[in-house]
Amino acid sequence: RGAAATAADLAGRHVVISAGGTREPLDPVRYLGNRSSGKQGYALARTAVARGARVTLVAANTGLPDPAGADVVRVGTAVQLREAVLKAAADADAVVMAAAVADFRPARYAEGKIKKREGQEPEPVALVRNPDVLAELSADRARPGQVVVGFAAETDDVLANGRAKLARKGCDLLVVNEVGETRTFGAEDTEAVVLAADGTETPVPHGPKEALADTVWDLVAARLGRG
Ligand code: CTP
Ligand code: CA
Repeated sequence: RGAAATAADLAGRHVVISAGGTREPLDPVRYLGNRSSGKQGYALARTAVARGARVTLVAANTGLPDPAGADVVRVGTAVQLREAVLKAAADADAVVMAAAVADFRPARYAEGKIKKREGQEPEPVALVRNPDVLAELSADRARPGQVVVGFAAETDDVLANGRAKLARKGCDLLVVNEVGETRTFGAEDTEAVVLAADGTETPVPHGPKEALADTVWDLVAARLGRG
């Protein structure tokens, strides 16, 4: 199935999508970041609009143009992303966490730019854990039957890691990608397996990020239909 066969199957639904990658500031000019481009999250937003949904897109540092028809909330850090996603999720039918959320942030923010000093080694950067937004959304559903979807970029034992992560997070669906330097991050095309809490696995062949997005919405729509 694809968008053509399922047009408007998300009509009357509110879906929340996070996209991009959080940045965790060290000082006014530096941050810890990641390689997420936001393209997969934006593809999810465009396809959800095309299928009739009301879409809230929480965009972390993407620099991409706002998708037509979506409400866009821009955020920087993981803490800001959590706030924006939880607020939008309160009345959402589905939440898709496509953003790469930093696991850690610097323990201290330096109000002034960190300077190097002659003959002095740099201070180590102490980190603290960020909140796990996906685990929190999954554990405390804002509404009964709300469908929660995560993404996982894995290397090595990709499917085994994905299954363990799905169980640990408690979400309904987990989209698992294999990553490398040039695969997935910033690329136009992707391939993935969508793992479901009910044990089903949906492989998505190499293709545009829109095709993966439509498969995600097919699986979400099926679960909303049951609720
Ligand atoms: N995620 C989140 N909050 C975090 C970290 C991750 O909501 N603090 C979400 C991501 O948006 C993604 C999913 O969790 O949808 C999986 O992210 P991933 O980094 O693969 O999971 P982690 O539990 O952080 O595992 P790892 O140690 O492999 O990074
Ligand atoms: Ca992580």
